[in-house]
Amino acid sequence: MKEHIDPSNLPQHIAVIMDGNGRWAKRQGAARVFGHRNAIKAVRETTEGCAELGVKYLTLYAFSTENWNRPKYEVDALMTLLVHTIRGEIKTLMENNVRLTTIGNTESLPGDCQNELAEAMRETQNNTGLTLILALSYSGRWEIIEAVRQLATEVRDGRLTPDEINDTVFGQHLSTGGIPDPELMIRTSGEMRISNFMLWQLAYSELYMPDVLWPDFRKNHLYEAIVNYQQRERRFGKISEQVTK
Ligand code: IPE
Ligand code: IPE
Ligand code: MG
Repeated sequence: MKEHIDPSNLPQHIAVIMDGNGRWAKRQGAARVFGHRNAIKAVRETTEGCAELGVKYLTLYAFSTENWNRPKYEVDALMTLLVHTIRGEIKTLMENNVRLTTIGNTESLPGDCQNELAEAMRETQNNTGLTLILALSYSGRWEIIEAVRQLATEVRDGRLTPDEINDTVFGQHLSTGGIPDPELMIRTSGEMRISNFMLWQLAYSELYMPDVLWPDFRKNHLYEAIVNYQQRERRFGKISEQVTK
């Protein structure tokens, strides 16, 4: 599969809704948390795969605003897993020249998660390869409301006029300001919805939704997604004749 990828037409930014951990565990008669624990390999493979190919940004939807509504023991298990995973993966991130950042309401995460994240971001801040963006306590609507609040404050304080608000200015006020919109969005587990993920940024993304459950996702699935993306014609509202040279 990898040899079918055209290196001159790589997506700069790939976003992933990592879905299906619970079903993966259930299939083997195990508790949902077992699925989350077995999802780390997929995270590592996807990160490494993107880094090796030269993809610039990878956003992983790890925990949504709505996920706070899951049973407490599952939320606690996910937070504990997050702490251990970050601690354990710093070495791999360094080896692959990956810089870690986050989007989302990370202030709502438990203190030890925040500390671990801050440490990992500090250690990897000078890496120049892939930027790995973890979406934690994130939702698209939350992010849009935050941006609107900031814009309103700037207008109130006379630093911005309503006329100056456009596509670019709005985009800069989102947590992904300065990062290109994802050209490709992958959601595993066959679920066909966005679930409040990057509502603004996904406006023109190509969507790829394979049936594979997230704990089974490997580099080859990533390559398949990219090859599939490269076979599409992105018209952005134009007609085919305008976009083919
Ligand atoms: C995705 O898997 C992981 C998180 C949302 C944290 P799920 O836990 O949603 O797994 P399913 O969808 O129930 O199978
Ligand atoms: C979306 O998955 C959130 C993450 C993958 C982090 P969910 O499994 O929570 O989505 P819904 O609620 O089924 O749409
Ligand atoms: Mg799910």
